[in-house]
Amino acid sequence: MTGQVDFLLTGAGQLVTADPSLGEGTLGLVQRGAVAASQGTVVFAGPEAELPELPLAEQCTRLDAGGRAVLPGFVDAHTHLVFAGDRADEFAARLRGVGYEEALASGGGIHRTVRATRAASHAELEEAAAERLVQAALHGTTTLEAKSGYGLSVNDERRSLEVLAALSGRTPIEIVPTFLGAHLIPAEYAHDRAGYLGLLEREMLPACAPLAEFVDAFCDRGALTVAESRRVLQAGRRHGLRAKLHANELGPTGGAWLAAEQGCVSADHLLYLDRAEAAALAAAGTVAVLLPGTSFLLGTGRSAPVRVLREARATLALGTDCNPGTCYCESMQLVIALACVHDGLTPEEAVLAATDGAARAVGREGRAGRLAPGATCDLVVLAGRSYVELAYHLGVNLAHQVVKRGVVVARDGVPLGLLEARPAATGSPGAA
Ligand code: NIG
Ligand code: FE
Repeated sequence: MTGQVDFLLTGAGQLVTADPSLGEGTLGLVQRGAVAASQGTVVFAGPEAELPELPLAEQCTRLDAGGRAVLPGFVDAHTHLVFAGDRADEFAARLRGVGYEEALASGGGIHRTVRATRAASHAELEEAAAERLVQAALHGTTTLEAKSGYGLSVNDERRSLEVLAALSGRTPIEIVPTFLGAHLIPAEYAHDRAGYLGLLEREMLPACAPLAEFVDAFCDRGALTVAESRRVLQAGRRHGLRAKLHANELGPTGGAWLAAEQGCVSADHLLYLDRAEAAALAAAGTVAVLLPGTSFLLGTGRSAPVRVLREARATLALGTDCNPGTCYCESMQLVIALACVHDGLTPEEAVLAATDGAARAVGREGRAGRLAPGATCDLVVLAGRSYVELAYHLGVNLAHQVVKRGVVVARDGVPLGLLEARPAATGSPGAA
């Protein structure tokens, strides 16, 4: 063990380690649990009665969970955090029966957010993304994937990733950046799709890859074809990015097959998925990222084919998909609830998918999403005695305390050092 313990939590009525080797069942449950950490890394997670004699640092954060449930900090495996404007009117129209694809085809949808995002300043984009990040963290998210994808030009895609880099420098929350220059073919290239993909390969990737970890494409009806998406993923890989794919959200368009073929780290959405596709994803080790907020709010009545994924033994992950079109939501708590009541996951499956599963989907396995020695000490003290409350007690923020790297960053909905002000030279002061 290295160093002195500078974080010690005791009194967890129920400790979810998300490591089956540390406790009962798939969630590795421990009754009356404790967690100790040194410099942000867990050194002990288990029964308080088995807590070893550990050298305590003079400045040690000590928390008494008071019998509450304690979980790993949530990992949000899929967000579109950087965008300007909103599409509340489009959402209202959807409630009156105007479909998502209809709005997109008539120049609204993603196209509209691209126009708003291009027109916004860096400072405006950063502050809008910062507000969403703070909301996510107040609800227990401690690691979050975030995509570009509303720029769709060399400069605007690069700018979205610069916004994420700037935000990373201001918050303890870990942001995993993804390049989604292939969110759509932008309107100005509608008649030259290959021309846009050429630009993406020749100019956008060299400009953006240094600021991203993953490459993603929206492979679906009305967006990119399988062949176009394959080209993007392969090009991204040549620039050192790992691949993800938006697949089978709007139709059975072959995206899941492509994700398996390309050995993607994750395939996301998957509302249309048959047995063979699920088996292919599982065999490729591709994590299935479910976005129940999106399927719920799309209003088509369709939810993720959980039975098929279970039978295939695919690894499941959850994300909010936070975006202005299909799902404007930062709360992984709500996503867990919807995963249970809308998609039919058990609470155990949903909590595992929102922690360890999502960490796997963003390349953070073993480091995020669990409370086990060697993992980052990210946790949520729940305002409740069981993780089941996440699905049961709806519509309130159940994150009593949020801890990132052994530091309390939120208490009862109040941010504590979650976001530093923007450096004076670049503009207005930050919040929270
Ligand atoms: O994940 N599917 C593609 N992207 C988003 C929607 C983006 C938007 O409508 O602005 C999604 O659902
Ligand atoms: Fe998405």
